[in-house]
Amino acid sequence: MSPQYSKKVMDHFLHPRNMGEIKDADGIGTVGNPTCGDIMTIYIKVKDEKIQDVKFKTFGCGAAIATSSMITELAKGKHVDEAIKITRSDVANELDGLPPVKMHCSNLAADALGAAIEDYRKKQKK
Ligand code: FES
Repeated sequence: MSPQYSKKVMDHFLHPRNMGEIKDADGIGTVGNPTCGDIMTIYIKVKDEKIQDVKFKTFGCGAAIATSSMITELAKGKHVDEAIKITRSDVANELDGLPPVKMHCSNLAADALGAAIEDYRKKQKK
């Protein structure tokens, strides 16, 4: 049985925003879901502590692609301290919900963004 996706999920899945890679990224975060094997990488470009640009690469299900796309939109322009607070449920809510069996997919997006910001901070310290 295929899960029921909201219109917004389908839109972001079929027309993902900010897909791709940032070659000279200031922070990169990759996370995988061991259960389904899906992998997501988020790249961020930061200026004056604000996320100037953000892109993603996702090998995963439709919900994983839609949540990646949505989180890039949520993160763009935000201060890194704000962006790191974006939660899994923020992403799902912005997409007008995800089917319960697909909620875990939104974990990837929030975790990958968090990992990219951590990576950025680590590099800053050096
Ligand atoms: Fe793996 Fe959705 S099924 S992230």
